[in-house]
Amino acid sequence: MTSTLTLTPARDDLIQSRNFIGGHWCEGADGRTFAVVDPADDSVIVPVVDSSGADAKAAVDAASAAFPAWRDAPARQRAQLIKRWHASIVEHQEDLARIISREQGKPLAEARGEVLYAASYVEWFAEEAVRAYGDVIPAPVDGRRMTVVKEPVGVVAAVTPWNFPAAMIARKIAPALAAGCTVVCKPAEDTPLTSLALLRLAQEAGLPAGTLNIVTASRETTPAVVGQWLKDPRVRKITFTGSTPVGKHLARESADTLKKLSLELGGNAPFIVFEDADLDAAVAGLMTAKFRNGGQTCVSPNRVFVHGAVHDAFVAKLAERMAKLTVGPATRPDALIGPMINARAVDKILRHIEDALDKGGRLVFGSTRGLGQLGPNFVSPALITGATTEMALAHEETFGPVVPVFRFGSEAEVIEIANATPYGLASYFYSNDIDRVWRVAAALESGIVAVNEGAFASEAAPFGGVKDSGYGREGSRYGLDEYMHTKYVCQGNLKR
Ligand code: SIN
Repeated sequence: MTSTLTLTPARDDLIQSRNFIGGHWCEGADGRTFAVVDPADDSVIVPVVDSSGADAKAAVDAASAAFPAWRDAPARQRAQLIKRWHASIVEHQEDLARIISREQGKPLAEARGEVLYAASYVEWFAEEAVRAYGDVIPAPVDGRRMTVVKEPVGVVAAVTPWNFPAAMIARKIAPALAAGCTVVCKPAEDTPLTSLALLRLAQEAGLPAGTLNIVTASRETTPAVVGQWLKDPRVRKITFTGSTPVGKHLARESADTLKKLSLELGGNAPFIVFEDADLDAAVAGLMTAKFRNGGQTCVSPNRVFVHGAVHDAFVAKLAERMAKLTVGPATRPDALIGPMINARAVDKILRHIEDALDKGGRLVFGSTRGLGQLGPNFVSPALITGATTEMALAHEETFGPVVPVFRFGSEAEVIEIANATPYGLASYFYSNDIDRVWRVAAALESGIVAVNEGAFASEAAPFGGVKDSGYGREGSRYGLDEYMHTKYVCQGNLKR
């Protein structure tokens, strides 16, 4: 079965199916392709290039050749080109949103939001490009000038996930380009079309040939593509968003060439509702944080802890809100939750629900089966009470619209359980006690703490984790540093 993807007339060129290397759209060396499918019905949208190690190497050849000129271009010039790319992304918001929602399943309204979210990083880093300041250090000895300059690391390889096909690639590519690096990238096999469209817009914006290169690859050939980059000493940095096992593999395999790494990995976010919280605000915050992209985000609350004194009231309010969530294909205007990305994702979600019920959880809302009448990859949102730490959903990232509620009795107890995970990406809590706010924010082991807030993501803030959730930060001024190294220049024998 095939499906059609309709864009603004005359912008069909945004649907690209070939690699973009050295300023040219090209077939893969092996001539192979793989199908990109619509998760709503598994229909084929378009076949794209299934790249090999040779294609990955060609991309690095191009990025490497383009690096000196891009590095040496005045920062203002780089900034202007990135700004033009930003303007073009905003101008094509609707077409990009259609591509995102078709290949990823996100409802159209949410996909439009993602395009602006992606664009916000591009704009931010265009502005940061001209602020890559160094330092002048007061020399502790006579006759010396001691300065520190920031330099781009070189060729960057960006390996991006499917859940935010525009935003995740934008917040890797934009700071890399702003810093003066050139880029090779490989989008997730489920959602390459959005990245290809973004590269098409970057090409139109006038980014020089070779600064930005993309190769697409299926699940089977991805190891050859990324493996090529891992062993290539010209690739000086890998930036990756995805699972913790893959992140650890990249860290191990890049050790021989000692690449700089940014790893934005899995999470197991706690969402804590204290007895002094504003319950309506907490429910609203949870709805926003949990059901964004149908729960398919690394920062999605995976474990909801509610104090015993407010547990029942909170669950009642939450169940009422969850009952209003409409599940349906991205094209349905009232859909709030689209399909999950694929059958593997659905299997995991249903396994977590069944396991929780087997271990004594109560299904307040939802179902143990998929919503097959809508399509192969649809599931109902689910609310489970009586969650315990023995359940799989307490340890594994569910990555779907499942809310397990744990009851707790004291602050000390909940902090201990919240931190009892190898992950540390995001944490959320609701409290109106100012002392508790600072105490708990300090005690939670995560790179991001959201206090009385369900939507913290911003281009102006550092996004990233601790522990098994990885290292490196995306967004904000810290995000630029990830693509630069620090050079100390010491000039001696100064004549006065
Ligand atoms: C992610 O799920 O990895 C990113 C989500 C976000 O940017 O908020």
